[in-house]
Amino acid sequence: MAQLNDNYLKLKAGYLFPEIGRRVKVFCEANPEAAKRLIRCGIGDVTEPLPPAVIAALHKAVDEMAVRSSFKGYGPEQGYDWLRAAIAKNDFRDKGLDVADDEVFVSDGSKCDCGNILDVLGAKNKIAISDPVYPVYVDTNVMAGHTGEANEAGAYGKLVYLPCKPSNGFVPAPPKKHVDVIYLCSPNNPTGAVATREQLEAWVKYALENKAIILFDAAYEAYISDPAIPHSIYEIPGARECAIEFRSFSKNGGFTGVRCAYTVVPKALMAATRAGEMKPLHPLWNRRSATKFNGVSYIVQRAAEALYSDEGKAQVKALIEHYMGNAALLRKGAKKAGLKVFGGVNAPYIWVKCPAGVTSWQAFDKILGEANVVITPGSGFGSKGEGYFRISSFNSRANAEEVARRLQELKW
Ligand code: MLT
Repeated sequence: MAQLNDNYLKLKAGYLFPEIGRRVKVFCEANPEAAKRLIRCGIGDVTEPLPPAVIAALHKAVDEMAVRSSFKGYGPEQGYDWLRAAIAKNDFRDKGLDVADDEVFVSDGSKCDCGNILDVLGAKNKIAISDPVYPVYVDTNVMAGHTGEANEAGAYGKLVYLPCKPSNGFVPAPPKKHVDVIYLCSPNNPTGAVATREQLEAWVKYALENKAIILFDAAYEAYISDPAIPHSIYEIPGARECAIEFRSFSKNGGFTGVRCAYTVVPKALMAATRAGEMKPLHPLWNRRSATKFNGVSYIVQRAAEALYSDEGKAQVKALIEHYMGNAALLRKGAKKAGLKVFGGVNAPYIWVKCPAGVTSWQAFDKILGEANVVITPGSGFGSKGEGYFRISSFNSRANAEEVARRLQELKW
């Protein structure tokens, strides 16, 4: 008898964003007039077209594929050398950070990499995650059998939850107890908080002392405007020995539909075998890529490379300015509406406290029903997200202005 993976049966309901999509669809079918004025600020999906430098690179790469002499079949599973080199140079070495070209692994998305990384980590690790948190970190550990069952609040047994609240600026300090693997995301999805240098130093110190590994999700680093905030965990001395970093072209280059990202696995990063011997993870991740992945398409990698040209960099900057302009408007609108607002300064997400006595899903229903705006209920990111909602600033300027206006019309 074929058996299924029972761990999947522990998962709570659907993945957050499809669940929101389902509820919005039901609402729109029942309210066709309201559906016409619907504005989506739920999922953090970009809205603006790809930068012209990317479009030019895509066209050129497509033309190359039309000619026998420049046609490409399978590429290297880890990414073409020229893209790995452009990434390592521009994102790290030009900034004084020590990352070698072959420590960069190009992939089709950070979401996939955040889940896939579990392939090369042991099943007995004690895992720490922030609460609230990007649900992928939790669900992939559930799927891999690293957790117990979920309790009524949605917290899974065996995971160590690190509460993020106003009193710690939504950035958790290292726990008093021992953990082996820690997920950190800065700028943070969903709270929009950023970790300071001191906070990251404390985490790196903890990881080195505990022989733990930090899985650092820096998908939103391009949104950092404060020069004191680190863009990479490798800005912290010692991080090469204890951290893997995930980066994405989704939110800087607008590649959510194009699909390209990368993961840095330093060669100095070691983890213990069952027998307690320390071995590097780099060859394991390399082996995994070669076995389970055939690489990102040539066309898409050329598009990603274009983001590092002078025009590409200027166009990415303009995109970020656009979305952060939206974030400023949304922050202001929510504040004027009398709501308490966090984030949205070094991140494209605004984290809003629900009015007293209103749950996250009640806020979702009210904002959808009365303002015809889709937000994300904070409880979907973890039990400590209850009583909050997230507004995404990925939108047109006109829509951001309209959402800011409609928020102020709501009577709670
Ligand atoms: C979000 O809305 O949290 C993001 O779209 C998640 C993601 O990038 O996968």
